Amino acid sequence: MKTLDWKNLPFGYMKTDYNVRCFYKDGKWSKPEVSTSEYIDVHIAATGLHYGQEAFEGLKAYMGKDGKIRLFRWEENAKRLFRSADGVKMAEVPQELFREAVFKVIELNRKFVPPYGSGATLYIRPLLYGSGAEVGVKPASEYVFLVFVTPVGPYFKEGIKPVNMLICRDIDRAAPLGTGTFKVGGNYAASMRAIIAAKHGGYSSTIFLDAKEKKYIDECGPANFFGIKNNTYITPKSESILNSITNMSLLEIAKSIGMKTERRQIPVEELAEFEETGACGTAAVITPIAKIVDPDKNKIYEYCRDGKPGPLSMKLYEKLIAIQCGDAKDEFGWITIVE
Ligand code: PLP
Ligand code: COI
Repeated sequence: MKTLDWKNLPFGYMKTDYNVRCFYKDGKWSKPEVSTSEYIDVHIAATGLHYGQEAFEGLKAYMGKDGKIRLFRWEENAKRLFRSADGVKMAEVPQELFREAVFKVIELNRKFVPPYGSGATLYIRPLLYGSGAEVGVKPASEYVFLVFVTPVGPYFKEGIKPVNMLICRDIDRAAPLGTGTFKVGGNYAASMRAIIAAKHGGYSSTIFLDAKEKKYIDECGPANFFGIKNNTYITPKSESILNSITNMSLLEIAKSIGMKTERRQIPVEELAEFEETGACGTAAVITPIAKIVDPDKNKIYEYCRDGKPGPLSMKLYEKLIAIQCGDAKDEFGWITIVE
C-alpha cells in the first residue's frame, strides 16, 4: 500500500481491503461474510431503496502509543442501531453479531488504522437496510447488515479551529414524534437542503431548531449542540435529536473535571449568554463554534473572539481524545482493545 498522507486525510470515503456482510432471511441472521467488493447487489424493489428502511452507525477506532487499537463505547452504537432498526421496523442486529462484524472488519483492515498522533482515525460505518422486495408500504422480510471502514481526518476541515454556523428556520430535519432520535437515512436526506444552503453561505453547518415551536435549539447538522456558561455544560433535551454518544460522554467528563451539567431545552436567545458553544459527535469530536448567525432575527452571536477554542471546550476535548487514544486512564470503562 502506498503510504497515506495521514495528517491531511479528509472526512471521506477511501477504499480499504475488506468489508463484512450479514444476511437476514427466514427470521435468522447469517454469520458475517468477508467481501473485497465495494458493491452490493440490490433488488430493484428493496424497501431500503424505496421506503427508506435503513439505518446506520458511526464509530471510530484509535491507534494508541502502545500500538493497540482502541474502540470507544461500541456497545452504545450497537444499542442505538437496535433502537433505529425498531424505529423503522427492520430486523434488529443482535449486539453479539454487531460486535463480531465490527471487530472482524477492523482486524482485516488493520493497516488502514491511522498512526498514533496523526489526528486521523479509522471510521467504522455499520449499515442495515431492507433488502427484501415489497411494493406496498410494509417492512421487508429480508435485511442486509454490512460494515465497512475508511480512514478519516476531521469532519469539519478546520479540526479544532472554531467554525461558523447558520440558524435554519425554514427547513426542519425531524418532527418531534418522527424519526429524529433514530439514525436513519431519511433524517439526513431531510437535512441536506439546509446544510447545502449553509455551506453556500460560507458556514460549516446549520443549527436546526425544534420543529414545533422554533424556540429551542435542536442540533448542529450531524452533531449535537452544547453551550457553556458559569462552569456549566448545557446541552439540549429534545424529542427530535439523535442521542449522541459523544455528548453522553462529555456530560460525564464535564462532571469529572468539576463542571456542572444540564440537559434541558435551550431557548435560542440563551445563545447570548454562553461563554463557549460547540458541536459534538463521533465525526465532529468537539468543534468549537465562533459565530452563530440568525438571519431571520437579525442576530449574530459571537464566541472565541481571539480565534481560539474556549478554555473549557479545550479541556473537554483534550480529556475525551486522551481517553479515546489511550493517553489517559480509561476511568469510565469506555474502551475495548481490538486484539
Ligand atoms: N447528531 C446527528 C444527527 C448525528 O448524525 C450524529 C452522528 O452520529 C451525532 C449527533 C453525534 O452522535 P455520536 O456522538 O453518537 O456520533
Ligand atoms: C458521526 O458522527 O458518526 C456521523 O454519523 C456523522 C455523519 C458523517 C453522518
